[in-house]
Amino acid sequence: MGKIKRIGVLTSGGDSAGMNAAIRAVVRTATVKKIEVVGFIRGYEGLINADYRRMDSRSVSGIVNLGGTVLKTARSKRFAAKEGRRQAYATLKNLSIDGLVVIGGDGSFRGAEKFGREYNFPVIGIPGTIDNDIAGTDFTLGSDTAVNVALDAVDKIRDTATSMERIFVIEVMGRNSGYIALQVALAGGCEEVLIPERNFNINKVCESITEGNIRGKISWIVIVAEGRGKAADIADRIHKITGLETRVTVLGHIQRGGRPTYADRVLGAKFGSFAVELLLKGQTLKTTGIKSQKLVSIDFNYAIKNKKLLEADSYLKLIKILT
Ligand code: F6P
Repeated sequence: MGKIKRIGVLTSGGDSAGMNAAIRAVVRTATVKKIEVVGFIRGYEGLINADYRRMDSRSVSGIVNLGGTVLKTARSKRFAAKEGRRQAYATLKNLSIDGLVVIGGDGSFRGAEKFGREYNFPVIGIPGTIDNDIAGTDFTLGSDTAVNVALDAVDKIRDTATSMERIFVIEVMGRNSGYIALQVALAGGCEEVLIPERNFNINKVCESITEGNIRGKISWIVIVAEGRGKAADIADRIHKITGLETRVTVLGHIQRGGRPTYADRVLGAKFGSFAVELLLKGQTLKTTGIKSQKLVSIDFNYAIKNKKLLEADSYLKLIKILT
């Protein structure tokens, strides 16, 4: 492989806080190393449509504290097809780009892996998803912010739950992962958490609510990960079985937005800079990751094909002990 003189960067899939910090780090690290950077707009769609802008140090000023992504993002169906990837490759060749940084989640990495292999094109990923569901890395960009946003909402809802002696069922995001739900439930002192990784028995949930009620427990917060079911259905079943009043809150996209926490900004800075270094070392088909506070590179194949372990049992045990 020849010397890298120009790289591309894009954000793909659901936006997550810290993506801007990563873009900034990619651009500024590359600039220091005398490498030019092209930013593609709306993820792989920008590659296919040749929708891009040249980026320099100044173009990433004042973005480190912003949620979302200044490059915009999309889930591209066209890139999943051979023809879309062919057009993307043509754009990269026309622009004399020698390497690509893809900031996104598992779907984006699947596309990056396929593309990089098909065209023997150097691609490095940066894990950016609130779901924290990429195997091989302890954290992904945006999960810390999402947990903090959700926790803030849960704290507020608890005021009403306590004051009005109600059961609240709160649905959090996470796709097929219970990561956000487990963190929020433990940090928020919630009584129950239902996650996709574990089955639950609604009768058992209701038994503990009823027993608690008899003991004088006046409020209850049940966190439901979206991958486990709909909060409205669960609240309905709890009401039917216990006869107690329930309320439902679906936190939704509020969890994706907002100012990135310090942890997501630091992670974005580290991942962005490391991704450029990996490209310069001739690495490809890998994503950056962080393991026990050390930066690591993980094969796309490993990150995509393995399920991230959650330590769910120790969380569930602790939640039970502490409530
Ligand atoms: O993957 C991030 C995520 O926010 C998931 O938690 C959620 O299931 C999904 O994206 C929502 O996607 P969209 O923004 O396309 O509705």
